Amino acid sequence: IEKTFIMIKPDAVRDRKTGLIIDRIERCGLTIEKMEKCELDEDLVKVHYAHLADKPFFGDIVDFMTSGPVVKMVVSGLSAVSKMRTLMGATNPLDAAPGTIRGDFANDVNANIIHGSDSLENAAIEIERFFG
Ligand code: GTP
Ligand code: MG
Repeated sequence: IEKTFIMIKPDAVRDRKTGLIIDRIERCGLTIEKMEKCELDEDLVKVHYAHLADKPFFGDIVDFMTSGPVVKMVVSGLSAVSKMRTLMGATNPLDAAPGTIRGDFANDVNANIIHGSDSLENAAIEIERFFG
């Protein structure tokens, strides 16, 4: 059983997509272990996206992720990390397949609805970062 860190981004929370997204996660046989709605401070977002700090769009990510509340979660299940990445779809919603969360609900590469850890190692780091 793996655990992964998932975050519903401000656009989806604002648009009341939280329930739809949770439904898709649970229908895949994954379990919501922890869940909390909260606002992120700028410093935490900068640490979380540090691997993109030298990109021209880094400021847009920070502005977007602090633009309103997010819903953060720990999700568990068999192959939870890769299963969630498949369920989420490609980073750019224009490339995300229909049937994926981003493919069905997102239109914008920055405001792309959901975050999911990209490896088991990063999942552990991110769960500690956001839930302590
Ligand atoms: P996350 O689950 O959010 O970490 O997305 P990811 O793992 O699919 O992609 P990555 O970690 O490479 O990028 C993190 C976030 O930066 C993405 O989810 C986007 O919101 C944003 N991002 C990535 N590439 C671009 C880009 O080319 N332009 C803009 N504006 N934002 C981008
Ligand atoms: Mg990522």
